[in-house]
Amino acid sequence: MKILFFCTAHNSLSQRLFLVLSRKHSVTVEYALSPERMIEAANLAKPHLIICPFLTSLVPQQIYDAYLTLIVHPGPPGDAGPSALDWLLMGDDGTDADSERLLSENRFNPVGRSHWGVTVLQAIGKFDAGPVWAFDQFHVNINDTSVTKSSLYRGPVTQAAIAATVAAIERIEAAASLVRPPSGAPISPPATPKPEDPEADPIGHISPSLSADAAFAELSVSISEPFLGGPTHHRPLLKAAHRNFDVRKHTASTISRRIRSADSQPGCLSDLFGPKLYLYGGMIESSSSPSSSIRGYTLPGSVIHVRDEAVCVATCDNKGIWITHIRQVKTKTDPALWPKVPAASGLEQLGISLVQGSSFYIPAVPQTPSEHWGKSSHSTFQEIWVDFVTEGERRLAYLYFDFYNGAMSTGQCRRLVQCLEYISFKATDPTEHLPLTAVVLMGGNSYFSNGIHLNVIEAAGDPALESWYNINAINDVVEKLLLDLPVRGVTTIAAIRGNCAAGGVALAAACDVVLAGQHVVLNPAYRALGLYGSEFHSISYPGRCGAERAKSALRSMTPLSADDALSMGLVDHVLRVSADLLDGAVRDTVQSLFSFAENVEGVPSPKFGAWKQNADTSPAGLALARATELGQMSMDFWSARSERYHSRRRDFVRKAKPSSTPLRFATHRRQKGMTDEEEQDMFDSVEWFVEKAAHKLKQDMSERMIRVINDFSMGNDDRTRLASPMSGTDVNIAKSTPIFGCYYNP
Ligand code: COA
Repeated sequence: MKILFFCTAHNSLSQRLFLVLSRKHSVTVEYALSPERMIEAANLAKPHLIICPFLTSLVPQQIYDAYLTLIVHPGPPGDAGPSALDWLLMGDDGTDADSERLLSENRFNPVGRSHWGVTVLQAIGKFDAGPVWAFDQFHVNINDTSVTKSSLYRGPVTQAAIAATVAAIERIEAAASLVRPPSGAPISPPATPKPEDPEADPIGHISPSLSADAAFAELSVSISEPFLGGPTHHRPLLKAAHRNFDVRKHTASTISRRIRSADSQPGCLSDLFGPKLYLYGGMIESSSSPSSSIRGYTLPGSVIHVRDEAVCVATCDNKGIWITHIRQVKTKTDPALWPKVPAASGLEQLGISLVQGSSFYIPAVPQTPSEHWGKSSHSTFQEIWVDFVTEGERRLAYLYFDFYNGAMSTGQCRRLVQCLEYISFKATDPTEHLPLTAVVLMGGNSYFSNGIHLNVIEAAGDPALESWYNINAINDVVEKLLLDLPVRGVTTIAAIRGNCAAGGVALAAACDVVLAGQHVVLNPAYRALGLYGSEFHSISYPGRCGAERAKSALRSMTPLSADDALSMGLVDHVLRVSADLLDGAVRDTVQSLFSFAENVEGVPSPKFGAWKQNADTSPAGLALARATELGQMSMDFWSARSERYHSRRRDFVRKAKPSSTPLRFATHRRQKGMTDEEEQDMFDSVEWFVEKAAHKLKQDMSERMIRVINDFSMGNDDRTRLASPMSGTDVNIAKSTPIFGCYYNP
């Protein structure tokens, strides 16, 4: 089938669905930028089916009247509204149908629902109310503090969305085959070709009047059960302020649920630190050892710890709540959204001092969660930990780095380097009875890694310099994997359990062996963000994939499935288990890789890091690659070409609404010879950017000149305007409409 996606953004869910459906269908993508553009796209694509995997606006009636249009709603049948996951995590169990009362009287259930679901329904005039073509459900625990709106969305919601959409398409295909010849009135009719036409469309037009079996709304596709999570309702937009909390009154669990329900967008609006800010995080501190007791002497609301840029605040039930990130509220005069930044530095920047011993900050939680980088035994905030495991004659180190959104700031990379140094030391520690066999990079649950931290960079006083520090720091991490650990005889393994992008892919690719979950999405290209890229990708990508395929991975800027990455050589093994079984599967696979290497007589053992035979990973080779990549990156940060990175980073972090869909996604718009700017060679040319800047300057100057002449002739003589350059803010942050405008309205 020809399928057209309408998306608010081509996000992790739509990318994954795209990869799954593309195996069988031809899929093209259009950003839902305006009703006109959507109609135009439908007319160009003439799809058999339209799917909206992630859409925050309405589909125009002309479209759903003409094309069968499916909406993927992150809620079970009967649930409707734009904040489905938010209500779920707040503790809405469906027993109270009155949303206003539920909120004002705080009638949420602290245990919440046992299940949630995803429904694929047909677009009609009313939001989320059309016939259901399929739904799926999954178990949920709203008090698991690792469950946030985003982790749910990227995990079980995405999984259920795939299952339900695939089922819906099969059901539509089956139903359509029963009712041909087609009916319906397309916008500009997707003329049904005659059978003798050599380009005849064997599927024909699928009518939106095709009827969905009522049973589709009754039984979920995976377990064939009715929805097990309780009654469902239409719930309105849950605004940031609806989750406000009072530390003197609300327990740590309640506050945690409120913060986690607002993760990603909009954040939990609160005046916890004085000014109103959007807060993120929500891990609970339950430390109870005598030395760290927070019992008795700390007022709720006091900061009781600052760790790795996260801030812990005492709650009224003798616990603490961790705030990991903050975002300032956009006022009417702010040209764009503020970056979401780590809490401690963000608060300091606002003049909120976190100096130890001040009346505001009374340290009461241990400095490090546990010694020797081990996983803390109690609930707390912890980004990096190592699980050393001895099995038989092998000692393995499973290294977790669970960074928010997979972004790795300079500080986080430096801490990761310290941890790798500790692992290196333990590799040959004479007090250990076995040397270390391998280190397994586990990354985070939601993401493996997305490379350098674009938000921290955007918020820095000098973003170019911060970019430089950050890329050097992440390179230090990768160098540990390519140099220090191999020198000590330690095999390096990357276990990609969540999606990864750019430098995160290169971080994995630098390892001897790369394992990936079958569901992960990889975006190896850097160009979409206007970067040449570093992290030794110029060694690992060609070493693993060959020069041509490495080039195409970097140039195509389209997402790869784990299987695509396997066939290219970026990944060595795909683990074909569901996401909840992945952790165990990684450990089993690692064990069996070594057992196989050691035990099977007469069978050549798998050569770990075989790709390194095609690359120069000697100290000199690595130094050369690093210097070459950094030479290019310095141009990305400081030369005229830096405009491509600085503008793209700004738009990415501040969520500026794009002006069009890239042609690499919108293949229905691509005609012969048409390319995106990022696909052209001149995109790499510093000279081209110099000329572009000169041209723009000339244009600006003549426009200003015309304005001054006009003003002068009208008697408004303001000659200073000619001379005064635009302020830094004007130059750096052009007024932009945020992509999720509605969410940021407090
Ligand atoms: N730095 C900071 N934040 C990042 C990030 C990075 N490198 N990569 C992703 N994020 C954040 C996004 O801002 C977003 O934040 P929010 O939801 O809390 O506001 C969140 O992660 C999810 O990203 P989003 O793009 O909405 O969803 P996705 O899962 O579809 O991500 C990616 C797809 C990874 C391809 C896309 O986020 C991306 O291109 N990231 C940048 C990768 C990059 O170029 N890194 C730098 C070069 S090493």
